[in-house]
Amino acid sequence: MNPYEKKRRWKFFLLFFAIVIGTASVIYTDFFVKKMEREEKVSFQLYVKVTEQSLVMYDDERFNDVIETIMKNTKLPVIMTDGYGVINSYQGLDSTKTNYDVEKQDKKTYDPAYFERELHKMKEQHPGTPIIGLDGTIWHIYHKDSFILTQLRYFPFIQLGVIALFLLTAYVAFSSARRSEQDQVWVGMAKETAHQLGTPISSLMAWVELMKSRFDAEDDPLIAEMENDIKRLEVITDRFSKIGSKPVLEDHVVYTVISNFIQYFQLRTSDKVIFKITGDDQVRALLNVPLFDWVIENLLKNAANAIENEGSITINIIEHLAKEEVFIDVTDSGKGIPRSKFDTVFQPGYTTRKRGWGLGLSLTRRIVENYHSGQIYVKESELGKGTTFRIILKSSITYEPTST
Ligand SMILES: Nc1ncnc2c1ncn2[C@@H]1O[C@H](COP(=O)(O)OP(=O)(O)OP(=O)(O)O)[C@@H](O)[C@H]1O
Ligand SMILES: [Mg+2]
Repeated sequence: MNPYEKKRRWKFFLLFFAIVIGTASVIYTDFFVKKMEREEKVSFQLYVKVTEQSLVMYDDERFNDVIETIMKNTKLPVIMTDGYGVINSYQGLDSTKTNYDVEKQDKKTYDPAYFERELHKMKEQHPGTPIIGLDGTIWHIYHKDSFILTQLRYFPFIQLGVIALFLLTAYVAFSSARRSEQDQVWVGMAKETAHQLGTPISSLMAWVELMKSRFDAEDDPLIAEMENDIKRLEVITDRFSKIGSKPVLEDHVVYTVISNFIQYFQLRTSDKVIFKITGDDQVRALLNVPLFDWVIENLLKNAANAIENEGSITINIIEHLAKEEVFIDVTDSGKGIPRSKFDTVFQPGYTTRKRGWGLGLSLTRRIVENYHSGQIYVKESELGKGTTFRIILKSSITYEPTST
């Protein structure tokens, strides 16, 4: 099993556990909610009974004391309305909104609209229970769920939300730590490689110059080939040194940069691969040519592998004026990439080739995103038909100086 398959399995496994824990927590709390609901129902029924009795025996002093004690201990929010629907008495409501000090004429803690709002909420939750009132008309007692019951209902969702937030933060923190670790390895390796290659390449150049003069072989094709190869090594070293430090971006015509590279690349590829560049041949972008060439090279090599060295590869350059962006679409007529792998192909180590390292696209993405502030992704792909990769770069707009 490759590391990506393993990682995916782990993700599924963790997701499965998260769902099990979440469901268990919801079911468990639901059990409590149901139990409390039953208890509150019983206590409301008791309240109604006592109230009914108190209305019948309201002139019995001793009985009134008992009733008062029972009522005070009922935490349920309750409102009683008379035969005209006017609020007659209440219980268990917020004391900071219901206290009206008659003597001090203090209205600070008295909010009449609050009662109406509470009554409205109660009517929405439970139908009122009718009783015979003092004047013989039908009065109603309303109640709503207690504060604790309401909180308990939302509790599992709040709990799950907090857990999810925690996991998300942990995930982001860990992946960014891992990414910066990867960054360090990339940059370190690249610097070291460039450094190590530097000395032998300089010596090789000197040797070639020496050979030319010693054997008087200025035009010898063999030596010319050697020089070409040394130049190639220099390009490679240059790329590595640029990856290892912050590269300078310069304003270039995208079309020209790509066609120059393809001229060079065509010579090293099978004749059966046909390259085409289409689209806007004027649009400019900020580029670092050696690094951008590396991007195109990786995409073209992958495309050539995908078409098995026979078919066509098209590069289309489009300017998106409104967004001030340049789209570079690299399309091949190769084997295609399954949709589920559109993102995976960019991960280091993912390869389907026998002799591949799976580093090409991850390096390509680094160059585009980290060094050019651009984007790269699989725009579309169909198995057996072909693939299009899209690079997006910021277009560089050149302002014409205006004379006044
Ligand atoms: N144009 C394409 N068409 C189909 N599959 C592709 C294409 N480009 C990339 N892939 C898939 O993505 C994988 C990863 O590509 P990547 O360039 O990162 O690594 P590689 O080509 O396998 O190895 P190397 O490190 O030598 O580049 C490839 O093995 C291939 O399966
Ligand atoms: Mg590759």
